[in-house]
Amino acid sequence: MSTYRDVKKITTHVLQAMKHKGEKIAMLTAYDFSMARIIDSAGIDVILVGDSASNVMAGHETTLPITLNEMIYHAASVVRGVSRALVVVDMPFGTYQGNSKEALSSAIRIMKETGAGAIKMEGGSEIRESVVRILSAGIPVMGHLGLTPQSIHKFGTYTVRAKEDEEAAKLMEDAEILEQAGCFGLVLEKIPAQLAQKVASSVKIPIIGIGAGQYVDGQVLVLHDMLGITQEFSPRFLRRYHNLFAEMQKAVMNYINDVKSLDFPNEKEQY
Ligand code: KIV
Repeated sequence: MSTYRDVKKITTHVLQAMKHKGEKIAMLTAYDFSMARIIDSAGIDVILVGDSASNVMAGHETTLPITLNEMIYHAASVVRGVSRALVVVDMPFGTYQGNSKEALSSAIRIMKETGAGAIKMEGGSEIRESVVRILSAGIPVMGHLGLTPQSIHKFGTYTVRAKEDEEAAKLMEDAEILEQAGCFGLVLEKIPAQLAQKVASSVKIPIIGIGAGQYVDGQVLVLHDMLGITQEFSPRFLRRYHNLFAEMQKAVMNYINDVKSLDFPNEKEQY
């Protein structure tokens, strides 16, 4: 059973304690007030306002088009629905890669305008200076290594990363650099389970996996994927807990039939 279920507010320090005690961290994405309220009330530890909003909310092919203003809109909506979970917000593509000053001003806008608890950035040694600068303003930073979707045009495909020794060694090195720079945690996406295990046991900060196997400190999934709202995306690591696409479609079809057949509204449903 969870030792941390009664914690009133999840902070980065609570996550650190959970790793220390060996209690797994459960993280999901959310992009709006209503969904955030549901998953917070269910007891989720961390809510990521992911730039996957670009795919699941806006229908873009990649995460690249979403803007800082759009992320701020999603994140502020999520924060209004949350009382317990730590809310982490993705810094969108193009708002931090230029230099550390630009990164800091993007991070400050997110924290000021949303009320979130932390930000997340993709990349390793190349973002070290930005991590340090953002942390110096008191903003907690989460890293993201492995398959980093903002670099999809460099990778060319969404296949498993770091299968070869050279890329695996660079990932290990980047994880240590990010820990030393002060990140409170890392997301590892779509890498071999043995490598993720090696990272999780060599750093002290929590490692949250997505397609990174069972030997890490927690798991994250995209909410719309695990609920079965999205249909096209079916990687091996995805466990679907529902088929909400079909359920919602059925409910809407019933509504349409009721309207067209004059069944809705009935006498009790009118004034
Ligand atoms: O944007 C996102 O949803 C993410 C997760 C896949 C970790 O970064």
